[in-house]
Amino acid sequence: MNAPLQGHTVSNPIAAAQALLSVDNVSLEYRTPQRVVRATHQVSFEIDPADRFVLLGPSGCGKSTLLKAAAGFIQPVEGEIRLQGQRVDAPGPDRIVVFQEFDQLPPWKTVKQNVMFPLLASKTLKRKEAEARALHYLEKVGLAAFADAYPHTLSGGMKARVAIARALAMQPKILLMDEPFAALDALTRRKMQEELLLLWEEVRFTLLFVTHSIEEALVVGNRILLLSPHPGRVRAEVHSHQYDLHSLGGVAFQESARRIHRLLFDEGQSLQAEHELDFADIRIAY
Ligand SMILES: Nc1ncnc2c1ncn2[C@@H]1O[C@H](COP(=O)(O)OP(=O)(O)OP(=O)(O)O)[C@@H](O)[C@H]1O
Ligand SMILES: [Mg+2]
Repeated sequence: MNAPLQGHTVSNPIAAAQALLSVDNVSLEYRTPQRVVRATHQVSFEIDPADRFVLLGPSGCGKSTLLKAAAGFIQPVEGEIRLQGQRVDAPGPDRIVVFQEFDQLPPWKTVKQNVMFPLLASKTLKRKEAEARALHYLEKVGLAAFADAYPHTLSGGMKARVAIARALAMQPKILLMDEPFAALDALTRRKMQEELLLLWEEVRFTLLFVTHSIEEALVVGNRILLLSPHPGRVRAEVHSHQYDLHSLGGVAFQESARRIHRLLFDEGQSLQAEHELDFADIRIAY
C-alpha cells in the first residue's frame, strides 16, 4: 500500500508550493580519512507552516544529521533541502536550532543577555528592541522574573525554557529541536512538553522536533516520520494530531505507541503491522 498522505504528496503541486521545508530524496554522509559513513539514505518529507513535525527513529539513524542539514550545517550528497523553495546551503537566522545540552547558554551572560545575544549578533535588532523582544519571550516561557539571573542558578527545565525563548525571539521560519528535553528528569520532561504545546497554541511556530521516544513523538507532534535504523530511510509517516499529554496512558494512545514500535523495529514485518494500523493517514514509503 502506498496510500498518499493527503496534502503531502509531491504529485500535488498545490501542496508542494505550500510546503515550508522540503526535504527531497536527501542522502547525508560523513567522510573521515578512513571511511564514508552514510547517515541517511534518500529521505523525503515536507513540512507545512505550523506543523509540529517529528523525526523518530533508533539511535544512529541520522535524526540529528537531518536536523543539521535542515539548519544548513551539512550539505546533502544527493537530493536537496528547500526552505520556501530556496535551496538551503548555509545556516541562517530563519532556522534556529535548540540542542539537547542546556549548557549551550554562555554562563557569563544573564538570562536576558543570553536571549538578546543572537538578535544583536545577527544584527536583527538594535539593543533596545532586542531587550524588549527578549523580555517578551521570557515572559512567554514564564521566566520574566529571572531575566537578570545567571544560567548556573537555574534548574535544567529553566535552562531549557531560556534556550526556547532565545530561539523563538529570533522569530525563525522554522524551529529545529534536537532531543531538547532528553537531559531532564521524567516529570520535568513532561512539563516541558506541555509548555511547548501551550507555547505553540499561542505562537503557532513551525517545529521540526527530533526524538527517539515514541511517547514524546506522539505527544509533541502532529506528524511523525518514522526512520529505519542506520542508515536512516523513511519507514512511514503517521498523523498524530489527535494526541496530547491528556492522552498518555489511554488505550488508543498505548495502541498507537505499540504499533509505531512494531513499524520501527519489526524488520520485514512492517507490512503486516501496516495492515493492523488504523491511523487515519499513513504513507509507507519503505
Ligand atoms: N561527526 C561525525 N563523523 C562521522 N560519523 C558521524 C558523525 N556524526 C554522526 N555520525 C554517524 O552518522 C550516523 C547518524 O548519526 P546521528 O547523530 O545523526 O544519529 P541520531 O539518529 O541523531 O542518533 P541519536 O538518537 O543517538 O542521537 C551514525 O552512524 C553516526 O555514527
Ligand atoms: Mg541525535
